[in-house]
Amino acid sequence: MVESTRQRHLISLQDLGDDELSTLIEASLVMKAAATRGGLEGRTAGMLFFRGSLRTRTSFEAAVHQLGGHGLNLNAATDFWDLEARSGSVMDGRAPEHIRDAAEVLSRYLDVLAIRPALEGRDWESDRRDASIRAWAEHARVPLINMESALWHPLQALADMMTVHEALGAIRGHRLAIVWTHSPTPASSAVVHSLLTSSVRLGLDVSVAHPSGYDLDGEVLGCARDIAERSGSSIEIGHSREEAATGAHIVYARSWQSLEDHGNPTLAASRRARTGEWIIDEALLARGSDARLMHAGPVRRNLEATDEVLDGPRSMIYEQAENRLHSQKALLAKLLGA
Ligand code: CP
Repeated sequence: MVESTRQRHLISLQDLGDDELSTLIEASLVMKAAATRGGLEGRTAGMLFFRGSLRTRTSFEAAVHQLGGHGLNLNAATDFWDLEARSGSVMDGRAPEHIRDAAEVLSRYLDVLAIRPALEGRDWESDRRDASIRAWAEHARVPLINMESALWHPLQALADMMTVHEALGAIRGHRLAIVWTHSPTPASSAVVHSLLTSSVRLGLDVSVAHPSGYDLDGEVLGCARDIAERSGSSIEIGHSREEAATGAHIVYARSWQSLEDHGNPTLAASRRARTGEWIIDEALLARGSDARLMHAGPVRRNLEATDEVLDGPRSMIYEQAENRLHSQKALLAKLLGA
């Protein structure tokens, strides 16, 4: 994990060593089977949401509760205020408090801190730096967990890898198709970046299909290709969802925004208007090798994927969502030594 001068943090799954990641997936499966309770008595976990969440917020709070700890949720929109991330800035803007002070103060109350930072949304080069979560990591003196920044969503990827392992009995040697889906409110590419890098690391062969103009972050892609080379897996990127899905064991549906149009809603909407056919349906799933369907949620029914496949026998969307709970319990137990 990322080491600040004082603490280890989880900003992306690359912060875990190979053995740590595999052990964590095993522990997640064990915790699910055993319905583990207890271990975090007397510990407090703080959650700070600068953007909305259904799964992450609820599953994290439930995980802390099931392990006997106390979860404290703070919503930036109602419970506190904007925080300044830039070091050395003259704080004459909106933010009345600096992250370095908030991080120091919260570290005196909490045993672990989990944050979903805001995205500025002006341009990708700025957002991709993940300045806010990195400032928290620099100043927090308790373990910090990224609950989805611009670049990474490690908690989703951990649950995804657990879900693949659970469904297929093993990860290595299987094929994953990541297929872009149409949505008027596309998600950030964080889920796909974390999914891609962790998949190739654990030995999945990955095909990504997206319309033109929806390329993934170049540095993340380069990093994923390096990981794939080391682990003996493969990455194919193309514009045909049919080709990507052919022979896949998992079809993973996900909308993501165009990084080219990041911060330009008019261009983004016009580009999206040309992508209405990017929906996952039975015909696409049937191209796979008994392919299962995954989606991190929230999913727009009959726009990203049809009711037929979302509610069909090969859908794993609810198991995948449930596994957020079990894998986060395993992570908390590891971080806090429960
Ligand atoms: N997949 C995911 O992170 O869901 P939420 O945005 O609801 O937390």
